[in-house]
Amino acid sequence: MFNLVLFGPPGSGKGTQSDKLVDQYGLIHLSTGNLLRKEIADQTALGLSAKSYIDSGKLVPDQVVIGMVDSFFEQHKGAKGFLFDGFPRTVAQAAALDELLVKKNTSISIVIALEVSEEELVKRLLKRGQTSGRSDDTDESVIRKRFAVYMQETSPVAAYYQQAGKFRSIAGEGTVEAIFTGICSQIAHAS
Ligand code: AP5
Ligand code: MG
Repeated sequence: MFNLVLFGPPGSGKGTQSDKLVDQYGLIHLSTGNLLRKEIADQTALGLSAKSYIDSGKLVPDQVVIGMVDSFFEQHKGAKGFLFDGFPRTVAQAAALDELLVKKNTSISIVIALEVSEEELVKRLLKRGQTSGRSDDTDESVIRKRFAVYMQETSPVAAYYQQAGKFRSIAGEGTVEAIFTGICSQIAHAS
């Protein structure tokens, strides 16, 4: 299996690039943000408990997210590989993911981080907030809170994968096509 983690702060282009990468490499897209928003739209118990965290820009508790990923794997047993988008977001999630993948006799192949300045990120998210309907995009203070949470809780995940020799980063500013080409060339070097 080929398992890719697309890493980076809110608005760095993980979702945009994921759409192209799943087509190119035949991977299953696992976006915990998308899964959580679907739970909220379906008004499930999980969705109701996650909503207040998302609306305030905080992380949903690890146990909830890890359980959701575990059941996603159960539903996609024949996958030839996964593209993880917005997960793992804490070191505890990264360790839990390693354990889940061991059970599937596989592991993370490579982690690619998209680097974008905070000013560009805020600009992108406020612009998307005009049309996306995402509750966490419309208020600049919630966007700033998401960045603070990223710096505190998610950025240590980079070191976790650096220690494993799996971490690469590329510039996430420029055209969507140029960034996609950069990601594909990192993948080619890794495999
Ligand atoms: P999640 O849905 O994962 O959101 P995020 O990480 O905050 O990031 P975004 O989806 O906003 O950005 P993106 O990097 O995908 O960028 P995109 O391609 O959309 O998480 C939301 C919330 O759910 C979290 O805050 C948390 O509460 C909860 N959650 C999710 N996962 C969790 C987990 N594992 N643990 C705990 N809680 C979790 O692009 C952004 C915009 O920029 C778009 O409008 C796009 O068109 C534009 N754009 C993209 N590329 C470019 C470019 N090259 N140039 C110009 N504009 C561009
Ligand atoms: Mg996204």
